[in-house]
Amino acid sequence: MTDALIEAQAVGRRYPQGGVSIAAVASATFRLRAGDRVALLGRSGSGKSTLLHLMAGLDVPTSGTVTWPALGRADTLLPEKIALVFQAPSLLEPLMVSENVALPLLMAKATCDIDRVVMAALATFGLENLARKLPEELSGGQMQRVAMARAIVGTPCVILADEPTGQLDQPTGRVLLDALLAHLAGTDTALVIATHDPAVAERMERIWHMEHGTLTETVHGAGTL
Ligand SMILES: Nc1ncnc2c1ncn2[C@@H]1O[C@H](COP(=O)(O)OP(=O)(O)O)[C@@H](O)[C@H]1O
Ligand SMILES: [Mg+2]
Repeated sequence: MTDALIEAQAVGRRYPQGGVSIAAVASATFRLRAGDRVALLGRSGSGKSTLLHLMAGLDVPTSGTVTWPALGRADTLLPEKIALVFQAPSLLEPLMVSENVALPLLMAKATCDIDRVVMAALATFGLENLARKLPEELSGGQMQRVAMARAIVGTPCVILADEPTGQLDQPTGRVLLDALLAHLAGTDTALVIATHDPAVAERMERIWHMEHGTLTETVHGAGTL
């Protein structure tokens, strides 16, 4: 059996809040393997973003451990091995869309034809005609789709997407998810999507429920996949 990409053992993250400390994530134990498709489903404030940041090595647990058995140390993960799509807008304002999407390739000193690979990533989400636009010229939903193109461009081992359809109406969100799942079909890339939308969760093989920082898992029954 191959090593897990991400392994969490009783991982917790507490934040000080008004003189007390609250558990944004409480004692979560899980394994993420190559090819997994996971919906991280929970209400606003349930701890989804905190969990994704812990999985990306961007935040440090206050209890328990997160390790990356097949990937390496926490400081080597982003953005080559793990692509994190932030919930908040994260495009660099002075850069054109195509330059934003090229960033992971430039950081990895990729030797591929960067223009071609960037245009292919944009085309995956039907964004070719935005290539030369600046972020300020885009709608919130377009920015989210560009951030998704930036996440897939470097073919990472893991994509962690934090409410990537949050700014989109449901049909547009469905198109984005269709495109992403079609792009990843048959690849080993693991995908975790944080969402509060049960329609998104329906499309994924594993469902992790977050409630007040507590993680539980359900797996779709046999025959539904
Ligand atoms: N940097 C922070 N400082 C203090 N509290 C935080 C911080 N980030 C998140 N929290 C708190 O942790 C809880 C979980 O937040 P979050 O992970 O953002 O949930 P979700 O992504 O599900 O909306 C919330 O109560 C939130 O207020
Ligand atoms: Mg969040």
